Amino acid sequence: MSVRIAPSILSADLAHLMDEVTKVLAGGADQIHVDVMDGHFVPNLTFGAPIAAALRRCTAAPLDCHLMVRHPEAYIEPFAEAGATFLTLHAEATDHLERHLAEIRRRGLRPGVALNPATPLAAIEEIVEEVDLLLVMTVNPGFGGQAFWEPGTEKVRRARDLLDRHESRALLEVDGGVARQTVQRLAAAGADTFVAGHAIFTAADPAAEVRELRRLAVAGAGERMARR
Ligand code: DX5
Ligand code: ZN
Repeated sequence: MSVRIAPSILSADLAHLMDEVTKVLAGGADQIHVDVMDGHFVPNLTFGAPIAAALRRCTAAPLDCHLMVRHPEAYIEPFAEAGATFLTLHAEATDHLERHLAEIRRRGLRPGVALNPATPLAAIEEIVEEVDLLLVMTVNPGFGGQAFWEPGTEKVRRARDLLDRHESRALLEVDGGVARQTVQRLAAAGADTFVAGHAIFTAADPAAEVRELRRLAVAGAGERMARR
């Protein structure tokens, strides 16, 4: 199982965004995580499709856009035009999830579904086949630098079982409190894609931090393989 590291620009120095992105890509980051918040679905406001478009003009790296907004379907077209790669909607934020995932795929993007800590995995059980990325939140979304939600490790383990049961090849991404202290156990539980904002962008050397998180995640993935 390959490991993917997805630095979240939420914790980057936005006045020097492209420098920050260049640093993490130099460290081998696999995709850039873009946290889109509307001040309604979550109690914070960040950025929208223009930031994704600006990043796309500067890098060919996959853009992993995480929509923490109500009625995310309204943003499919702007993010498609911006050049997003993954577009992840929250199951709690919309009715008719399946229809919107199909629309994302029709627009040539890879559809993802995110689940808040309190949302059971059953929310996606019926539509696993439509999903290219399952995002298990390990904080309540809204802010960077929050404490890791401990039951998240067990939820990741059950999410991995769910994907395996459906023979899904979707990425299993974790977001929130991912750091040196948590990444290895999350990989051992079956996550393969790791969002980290605070841990990477507050490090003295963000590129080295990407490499260190990858090293620990690979060790965790190895533990998992050894158990099988
Ligand atoms: C949280 C966002 C995260 C956030 C993670 O609402 O979805 O992507 O940037 O931040 P850290 O890694 O600082 O917990
Ligand atoms: Zn996120």
